[in-house]
Amino acid sequence: MKGKIIMTTRKKKIVSKSSPKVKKIATKKPTKKKAISLKRKGPVVITSTGVVKIYKSTNVEVTALDGVDISITEGEMVAIMGPSGCGKTTLLNCLSGLDSINSGSIKLQGMELESLSDDKLSEFRAKNMGFVFQSYNLLPVLTTVENVELPLLVSGTSAKDARKKSEAKLDDVGLLEWKQHLPGELSGGQRQRATLARALVNEPAIVWADEPTGNLDSTNEVEIMDLLTDLNKKNNQTFVIVTHSNYVGGRANRIIKMKDGKVVK
Ligand SMILES: Nc1ncnc2c1ncn2[C@@H]1O[C@H](COP(=O)(O)OP(=O)(O)OP(=O)(O)O)[C@@H](O)[C@H]1O
Ligand SMILES: [Mg+2]
Repeated sequence: MKGKIIMTTRKKKIVSKSSPKVKKIATKKPTKKKAISLKRKGPVVITSTGVVKIYKSTNVEVTALDGVDISITEGEMVAIMGPSGCGKTTLLNCLSGLDSINSGSIKLQGMELESLSDDKLSEFRAKNMGFVFQSYNLLPVLTTVENVELPLLVSGTSAKDARKKSEAKLDDVGLLEWKQHLPGELSGGQRQRATLARALVNEPAIVWADEPTGNLDSTNEVEIMDLLTDLNKKNNQTFVIVTHSNYVGGRANRIIKMKDGKVVK
């Protein structure tokens, strides 16, 4: 269905041009191969059904998520976009199990989040998820490489292996020569890369990112997105990225738009 719509649009555009060569292409029927390549592949790894999240303070209630239904397949890179305050960060926190929900259901890799104990959820998170959240800042007293190896040590990797993998990941993000520096000695862009290295070091199945390029200039933004799309293709990792950047949205496979706590078309 999706394929057909896209082909029709393309056909219309091409027909409006006058070149005979282009017209010839336009009369070609869409091939089966093209239609198939437009389908999403892989199993569904993230599902939310009717998710409601209400924040209550003394005398105000804010419905931050108002019945969110989404489904994301393995290996997708999805951008969540929408105006400030529409519930993007809340959605990421709830989907990743960092925050609880008031009603509805969230499943990750087929597992109902509600059914997991706190310990099981923490273990699942450490093994399967990477976070690039502004609130997940680097620890200022640890060197860059020590910060990156933290998730590996937490999930039981030996110190030697953790160091080796962290250095490889720092190399991937172009920070190897800064490995012994403290976060305070890095620029904003470098710190953001270190955060990415830390989120990606244990090759998590799902990477959650909240404004991963928020503090970066356009050159750094392009480089970070090159890195993420490369990993996404190579390792089939699933990326859910909250962003205000149209550039980042354009690099994603799909944009989920939000408004007032709801997913909108
Ligand atoms: N801890 C909280 N306590 C009370 N209200 C909250 C809390 N966190 C978020 N909210 C409210 O929930 C709504 C959604 O907030 P959220 O942070 O998810 O928005 P956002 O789309 O990420 O915005 P931004 O683009 O500015 O980061 C807002 O109205 C916000 O004020
Ligand atoms: Mg936010």
